[in-house]
Amino acid sequence: MPPANSLKPLQKDRRATNPAFGTRTLKLGTFQTNLDSGCVMSDLDGRLDITWPNTVALAQLADAMEFEALVPVARWRGFGGATDPQGPGFETYTWAAGIAASTRHCGVVSTSHVALNHPIIAAKQSTVIDHISNGRYTLNVVNGWNFPEMAMFGVSLLAHEDRYACAEEWLGIVKRLWTEDERFDHEGKFYKISGGYLQPKPVQHPHPAIMNAGSSERGRHFACRHCDLVFTNIRTHDLATNIAHVAAYHRLAREEYGRAVRVWSNATIVQAETEREARDFYNYYVHDKGDWVAARNVIDTMAAEINKRDYPEQRRNAMAEMMICGWGGFPLVGTKEQIVDGLVGLSKIGLDGVLLSWPRYIEGMREFRDVTYPLLRQTGLRD
Ligand SMILES: Cc1cc2nc3c(=O)[nH]c(=O)nc-3n(C[C@H](O)[C@H](O)[C@H](O)COP(=O)(O)O)c2cc1C
Repeated sequence: MPPANSLKPLQKDRRATNPAFGTRTLKLGTFQTNLDSGCVMSDLDGRLDITWPNTVALAQLADAMEFEALVPVARWRGFGGATDPQGPGFETYTWAAGIAASTRHCGVVSTSHVALNHPIIAAKQSTVIDHISNGRYTLNVVNGWNFPEMAMFGVSLLAHEDRYACAEEWLGIVKRLWTEDERFDHEGKFYKISGGYLQPKPVQHPHPAIMNAGSSERGRHFACRHCDLVFTNIRTHDLATNIAHVAAYHRLAREEYGRAVRVWSNATIVQAETEREARDFYNYYVHDKGDWVAARNVIDTMAAEINKRDYPEQRRNAMAEMMICGWGGFPLVGTKEQIVDGLVGLSKIGLDGVLLSWPRYIEGMREFRDVTYPLLRQTGLRD
């Protein structure tokens, strides 16, 4: 019997197969291409209409530019309002399996709610996607905050601390299934496993990449201790603040857990021929066409989450605007040169990668491929 965690014949070093571990200075991805409306909350014509051909079209655009991570969002119902953004959508594991089969280069992610997916099922489904993609797969672990969608399952969200304790146990089981040959028993606070078994093992050795986007202090510790890709939001244009913010993740991972992590964020691209036109378009889709009812539902749900986050009324409107504009992504608004400068700026603060979205997802991404990406390549960030 080979020792646990040794490379099996079908396995490969994940640094060679998963583009998220690649050497490009700035990695790129897409966000939420599995859901209706994509990342916007707006009655904008040309926003993402979620059909299988449309989601594949976006994945293949990403594939042509060798994006490193296509990240779907695990969402089970929408946010109401006039457009019910994120209501219709594709479940993330089955989506990732289909996307893996429809692409050749890009990294493919599934997003898993700890509370809704048993760890054996999560490990098994992930393994299938890792085989379909030949080692391009990443598992995004999420703990949930959106209690009405949990209520739909009859599942109550645990208290915040317990949610992360549960996620630690869950991920420990998933990793054991991926890496250990011997059957194992597990008796924990949240799970009981008898004779845990999983074959074949994933393609990636020692196991598939893991990502997490926890933003609380507990979430940041979870991500830095157990995950490879950690996500954070960039909220200011202040260079020094942003550099310190990203560096804090690296320091936490290194100093407390002796690990290295890669820090990613997300951004929304609003591009036009002139900066003025780009700003006008922003105002049009956000202020004229924005689905403020749906956006307020998001913010109110976040605020009413069982931790009772304290969002003052004034801040709620600003947060709603961020949701309408691109689901909280850092807005990059301007000409193609300004968009490239913005991406260079995000790289300079130490981010390893950025998930992108466009208000008119397909049209915007085509323009990016044809007009903006060639300029970005000239910066050397994609070498
Ligand atoms: C890039 C990104 C992707 C996320 N994907 C999901 C998701 O698919 N489903 C979900 O319920 N939450 C998702 N979240 C929310 C986070 O997992 C997390 O619950 C939230 O940031 C609150 O942090 P906390 O859990 O540390 O309190 C995502 C957040 C980000 C930034």
